[in-house]
Amino acid sequence: MILKGRLKGNSSQLWFSRISQKTPLWYDCALITPIIIDNIKRISVKVDPTNMPQHVAIIMDGNGRWAKQQGKLRIFGHQNGVRAVRNAVSFAAKHQIKVLTLYAFSSENWSRPESEVSALMALFIKALDSEVKKLHKNNIRLKIIGNIHALNDNLQQRIIEAEKLTAQNSGLILNIAVNYGGDWDIVQAVQRLAQGVKAGQIEPEQITKHLFQQTLSTEEQPQVDLLIRTSGEQRISNFLLWQIAYAELFFTPILWPEFNDDVFMEAIIAYQQRDRRFGGS
Ligand code: FPP
Repeated sequence: MILKGRLKGNSSQLWFSRISQKTPLWYDCALITPIIIDNIKRISVKVDPTNMPQHVAIIMDGNGRWAKQQGKLRIFGHQNGVRAVRNAVSFAAKHQIKVLTLYAFSSENWSRPESEVSALMALFIKALDSEVKKLHKNNIRLKIIGNIHALNDNLQQRIIEAEKLTAQNSGLILNIAVNYGGDWDIVQAVQRLAQGVKAGQIEPEQITKHLFQQTLSTEEQPQVDLLIRTSGEQRISNFLLWQIAYAELFFTPILWPEFNDDVFMEAIIAYQQRDRRFGGS
């Protein structure tokens, strides 16, 4: 930096100390002006509580890279990712978001080294053990979406118990996607509807967009309004393919273990500034 700047409340109280005399003052000012404008914008924009997204989905990415930056093994990144999960859940509950869906393990993640997969499974069990009572106390309903039959018996059992304990809660719905793929979700819905037709319970003509949507793992929940992905990647990676049809997308370079209230807030503000037209003019 050529200038050291300090923003004191408003633009008329800016103080600088020039740390280099090698460039003309106008050049330094031209460099610093966009930074000042960004700061002023950031300070003045507030979240509109009447326009919150109902359903936020997050692709939690970058645990491995974060761990590498710290000179640690990948699992250290996942362990620290749990802290960011906890923060995101309290943020969503506090700001009256109705549904929060987190992508914890995709159908494709089985191709990771066996040691990482089993460490992740152990982490899910540990997190369920330590967090479920707190979720219940906070009136949060936990739902695991994905093909849970492929998970080990211990984890399946804990999932069933956690879902049962929190089933009647009326606050935030927390979906954790484990062994999930958007293509799997669509195929399982098609299979269940086809079985219904075969059993004579429904007529093919009764399969509407609405019925199809209710047969997805997210059932009666609203469609995703805001999809966030951390770590700078800009892909959907087989997450909630049907449910994100009209979602606003927000990509941030922040790695998942560093995701905090400020970044969540930034995503909500960006969402509120979008002009959502749903295909209209
Ligand atoms: C992606 O980062 C992260 C995952 C595949 C696992 C997500 C798991 C957690 C956040 C911890 C536990 C979650 C719950 C719900 C208890 P990556 O490993 O792909 O990172 P990289 O792209 O930097 O390699």
